[in-house]
Amino acid sequence: MRVGFVGWRGMVGSVLMQRMREEKDFDLIDPVFFTTSNVGGKGPDIGRELPPLKDASDIAELKTLDAIVTCQGGDYTTDIYPKLRAAGWNGYWIDAASTMRMDEDAVIILDPVNRKLIDSALAQGVKNYIGGNCTNSIMLMGVGALFREDLVEWVSSMTYQAASGAGANNMRELLRGMGVIHGAVADELATPASAILDIDRKVAQTIREDVPSEFFGAPLAGGLIPWIDKQLENGQSKEEWKGQAEVNKILGTAAPVPVDGLCVRIGAMRCHSLALTIKLKKDLPLTEIEAIIRSGNPWVKWVPNDKDVTVRELIPATVTGRLDIAVGRVRKLNMGPEYLSAFVIGDQLLWGAAEPLRRMLRILLE
Ligand code: HSE
Repeated sequence: MRVGFVGWRGMVGSVLMQRMREEKDFDLIDPVFFTTSNVGGKGPDIGRELPPLKDASDIAELKTLDAIVTCQGGDYTTDIYPKLRAAGWNGYWIDAASTMRMDEDAVIILDPVNRKLIDSALAQGVKNYIGGNCTNSIMLMGVGALFREDLVEWVSSMTYQAASGAGANNMRELLRGMGVIHGAVADELATPASAILDIDRKVAQTIREDVPSEFFGAPLAGGLIPWIDKQLENGQSKEEWKGQAEVNKILGTAAPVPVDGLCVRIGAMRCHSLALTIKLKKDLPLTEIEAIIRSGNPWVKWVPNDKDVTVRELIPATVTGRLDIAVGRVRKLNMGPEYLSAFVIGDQLLWGAAEPLRRMLRILLE
């Protein structure tokens, strides 16, 4: 299979390349690397000689491929995809961008959760397979089994989203901000006798005036931003809107399960977390709920609702860079026996972005 890669140099693309090398995916395909800015340049290191980079806007060249995997972003999709289909291309389009996610003729890919839906789409000749929004993918990788068992009446999903979801520049901005704050009070910090409220006053002023906010639009270091993506007319953010729309599309539910909550940007680097309130359709014992959640997929990492293990395992510092989806803080809430809490953490660049794309390629190769 000849597979074209576009946008492999960016952050999601680089994680994809790394995962494909680790899993030896390149041994199974004939990869062709494209560029939007460096035609004739050198491709990524995949352990073998590669021809020079080809032009990612060359429809005739793209048309020769069996599949195209793009992490180039939504503008590229909007520009190139229609031209390719208009030119008669009938290959598989595998895309990390959100542009086509809700299209009728596209499936949102998260195969440990919706493999059946992917298989039936393939059998029906569907050619467009699009990666989901990272928070939704992480939530379903964590507690998807509760949906599979038709136990969920609704979910309130309050998110704690890392800087990586906004892009590489945003990650840099977060770190620069952290440095600026530290720099403003480094001397006082080094002096144990200094007054903490004086330090705090200086920090507050630094956050308001000096922490960079060009990319986030507000200072993130030392704070948070309770809005992600565009504003919609109903008061939701676009990120919040995606919750119900995408979760139900991924699951292929006949009657939509309500999913809603507030999406918040926090100063983590690349782990998205979600605090969930789940209204179950019936009261089940916690042992049974644990068994169901654990049965979801091999990447669910169950964290018992116990302080010591939670603060060790259910934190970005532990989960980052791993495929594990940690699920913990599962307990019944005061609201009643059908109300369950859960805290889910996953690496936003792995299951949230790159991993479903490479796994879709593997499915095409089966
Ligand atoms: N929209 C997500 C975020 C990223 O901003 O965190 C990827 O789906």
